[in-house]
Parts: sequence; C-alpha cells; structure tokens
Amino acid sequence: MSIQRTGDNLAIRIVAMPRDTNPNGDMFGGWLVSLMDMAASLEASKTSGGRVVTVAMDAIAFHKPVAVGDEVSCYTELLNVGRTSMKIAIEVWIRKRHSEEAVKVTEGQFTFVAIDENGRPTPVVKS
Ligand SMILES: CC(C)(COP(=O)(O)OP(=O)(O)OC[C@H]1O[C@@H](n2cnc3c(N)ncnc32)[C@H](O)[C@@H]1OP(=O)(O)O)[C@@H](O)C(=O)NCCC(=O)NCCS
Repeated sequence: MSIQRTGDNLAIRIVAMPRDTNPNGDMFGGWLVSLMDMAASLEASKTSGGRVVTVAMDAIAFHKPVAVGDEVSCYTELLNVGRTSMKIAIEVWIRKRHSEEAVKVTEGQFTFVAIDENGRPTPVVKS
C-alpha cells in the first residue's frame, strides 16, 4: 500500500542524529521502530480519544538505510477500527538534506488497543 504524503498524514518529522547509529554508522533500526510506534500512537489516540497501548507490530520492512543528517518523516493512515483495536499503517520517508527527492525507507502496520483507567480494553468510539 501507499500512504499519501500529505500534511494531514504527517505525524512526525525529525532529523536523524548520530547518537542513534548502528555499528555501520547508519541509523539503528530500533530507533526507527520507536519513531513509528510514536507516530502510530498519535493516530490511535486521536481516533480513540483516550489512552492506547501497542499490542502488535506487523509487516515491518526496512527497505533502505537512513543516514545521519537525513530528514525523516513518518506518515500514518488508519486502516481499520475493530471493537477495541485500531490498525495503523506507517511509512517512513527520508530526504537528504540538500535534495528534493523523497525515498521510502521503512514501513509497517501497528495495532493499538484503547484502554480504560485500569489498563483494560475499552471500545473505540471513532471520532
Ligand atoms: C493490549 C492489552 C490491553 C490487550 O488486552 P487483552 O486482554 O489481550 O485484550 P483482548 O484479547 O480483548 O484484545 C483486545 C483487542 O486487541 C486485539 N489483539 C489482541 N492481540 C492482538 C495481536 N497480537 N495482533 C492484533 N490484534 C490483537 C484483539 O483482536 C482485540 O481487538 P477488537 O476488540 O478490536 O476485536 C494487553 O495485552 C496489554 O496490556 N498488553 C501490553 C501492552 C503494552 O505494554 N504495550 C507496549 C507499550 S505501549
């Protein structure tokens, strides 16, 4: 699938910094997954109108490396709303600092569950 890279779908934009590199000098995959989790949680929180937790991360694929200094943008799209769960697609795109070209580097589908104050699943009331 392909998420439209519009301002509405843009959840997070950040510059990749050296502290999160892997031994090859590129960005650590765990850092990207953390960004994706944050980006998707914003979409889930907006949809549920309350607290959410990540229950599953699926179909994560790393297509290209991310280098220090790249502009990193996370785009999200709500795929499905269940009784208490929400499935969200995430795509991460980069742009080299001095280039106009955007390249998709990572994608995945994250599932969140709406929870009540006791941490139990609670129905999503789609906003
Ligand atoms: C998320 C959590 C509250 C769900 O509790 P639970 O008792 O397992 O809930 P249920 O079995 O009723 O499932 C709740 C929903 O999640 C969905 N779900 C559960 N496991 C899933 C999985 N592995 N993949 C996709 N969806 C899943 C269920 O299908 C259900 O969806 P629906 O209500 O829309 O039909 C509980 O597992 C939990 O607290 N997990 C830890 C969450 C966490 O700490 N995340 C990391 C930090 S945010």
